[in-house]
Amino acid sequence: MKLIIALIQPHKLEDVKKALFDTEIHKMTVSTSLGCGQQKGFTETYRGVITEVNLLKKTRLEIAVNEEFVKPTIEAIIKGAKTGNIGDGKIFVIQLDDCIRIRTGENGKEAIG
Ligand SMILES: Nc1ncnc2c1ncn2[C@@H]1O[C@H](COP(=O)(O)OP(=O)(O)OP(=O)(O)O)[C@@H](O)[C@H]1O
Ligand SMILES: [Mg+2]
Repeated sequence: MKLIIALIQPHKLEDVKKALFDTEIHKMTVSTSLGCGQQKGFTETYRGVITEVNLLKKTRLEIAVNEEFVKPTIEAIIKGAKTGNIGDGKIFVIQLDDCIRIRTGENGKEAIG
């Protein structure tokens, strides 16, 4: 099992969700986060003062999947999120030891899917 964490542009969430649904992936956690990548943010002028804004708003998706869904999930996220511009986002893939469905006590493969 793997936990896939993706940081994407907020305005691409609907496209990513559609690509995931088309791949039969329906379980996910979505939240708002702040972050910066290799550009270290950018500067903007606020009331004549140059201000450094280095934490940009991103949307964070967390999806726990069985091994056979790792590649399709990554492909769907890229399909929905990619514009080719800087800041398109990043995907992290983390080894996941277990998953427990609280209601039934099921764990592992049964609980995740
Ligand atoms: N090494 C990292 N560790 C933790 N979070 C990161 C890392 N790199 C990127 N992120 C997160 O991913 C978001 C999107 O990153 P971003 O797409 O700007 O990556 P990048 O490496 O700068 O690539 P690009 O050059 O395409 O912009 C960041 O705002 C941040 O939240
Ligand atoms: Mg960047």
